[in-house]
Amino acid sequence: MIHYLQEPLLLENRGVTIRNRFMKSAMSEGMASRSNTPAEDLIRLYKRWSEGGAGLIVSGNVMVTRDALGEPGNVVLEDSGSMDAFRRWAKAGKKEGNEFWMQINHPGKQVVRGLVKEGQAPSAVPFPAGFQKFFAPSRALTKAGIEEIIYRFKRTAALAKEAGFTGVQIHAAHGYLISQFLSPRHNIREDEWGGSIENRSRFLKEIYRAVRAEVGEDYPIGVKINSADFMKDGFTEEESLYVIRTLEDLGVDLVEISGGTYEKAVMTGKQSEKSKREAYFLEYADTLKNQTSLPVAVTGGFRTKKGMIEAVRSGSADMIGLARPLAVDPDIPQKILREEMDDITIPSIKTGIPPVDKAGMMEVMWYSQQLHRMGRGKATKPCFSPKLSMLLALWKNGTGVFQKRRA
Ligand SMILES: Cc1cc2nc3c(=O)[nH]c(=O)nc-3n(C[C@H](O)[C@H](O)[C@H](O)COP(=O)(O)O)c2cc1C
Repeated sequence: MIHYLQEPLLLENRGVTIRNRFMKSAMSEGMASRSNTPAEDLIRLYKRWSEGGAGLIVSGNVMVTRDALGEPGNVVLEDSGSMDAFRRWAKAGKKEGNEFWMQINHPGKQVVRGLVKEGQAPSAVPFPAGFQKFFAPSRALTKAGIEEIIYRFKRTAALAKEAGFTGVQIHAAHGYLISQFLSPRHNIREDEWGGSIENRSRFLKEIYRAVRAEVGEDYPIGVKINSADFMKDGFTEEESLYVIRTLEDLGVDLVEISGGTYEKAVMTGKQSEKSKREAYFLEYADTLKNQTSLPVAVTGGFRTKKGMIEAVRSGSADMIGLARPLAVDPDIPQKILREEMDDITIPSIKTGIPPVDKAGMMEVMWYSQQLHRMGRGKATKPCFSPKLSMLLALWKNGTGVFQKRRA
């Protein structure tokens, strides 16, 4: 049955073949240099992941403008100033013949206080009180501001292609700017960018069109999108299905399904309803696959070879997205493909301090520390104590660390 995961996937619109069904999903590394370019450790990390056997590797989110950093250590690609470092990053990440796509993102209003003065959003809808101490206040974008950001996505995609990335993934999930436009909770505009779902999805569609016009017809473009926001007045499953059908008509090559936002972090399984299956968004993916023939990657919660094979065999997913497991063991794809591994065991990241564990920040920091180890050429440390991890993060960054990391 392993052949279901070994089989290459053809992205028909572009004639590009991904050599197996494993996708390393985006994980924000926080490993850029001071000038927000790829540092040596980041390049080393992706060489390691390329050796791990996934057919498709997606980078952590790369910001399309320096004016809007989601967190410290973000990579930014906005001009041709540091192309040499980006070229070396692209080369390392596709070393073993896999695809290596850059995830391109704008955080919108999910920007940390202190890092930027003001966020930009479809509308000036404040976060709930509990989140306001973490995030900078935001203002509504003007129409010219919206056009400028569409241009930024297009420019970053063109530079990614020039650097040697074999595709790009537009980040439209997890409560960042595009996801804010999709959500009626965050987008209360009354012009052509707000209101109906046709209008709320215009920003994503225009970004796709602009990027496609720039990169040409033979270059893959993926989109990561929420199955739903799981919030009152948020982006719903029906709306998500509608948007993906539209993306298929536009010619998008692969959608990756996730869910949730910073306010409701279901993407890492923290606050999700218990799914009947091991991966969080498979039920939604089944519904989606009945309505589209667009290739679909599902990410979140996959932990057994059996569950992965079943997802591809049954047609629920074309690709299996893995994030946290590959921060602990970068070789999981090839171990499974060679039938040397059945189940992935990843540690439970709990400090025993309820507010810290509940916020979910500890988990992101712990995984991030594993990425840093790999970047320094060290082995990962799955037994690393979450309490020690917390102390290390506090020592390095102070208490602000709890405000600064997100999925
Ligand atoms: C440290 C960390 C950083 C992440 N950064 C990103 C990111 O930059 N972009 C993104 O789309 N998802 C990001 N995610 C979410 C993952 O891509 C994935 O959707 C989530 O972890 C669930 O998959 P898993 O159960 O295989 O870990 C991040 C997750 C973690 C743990």
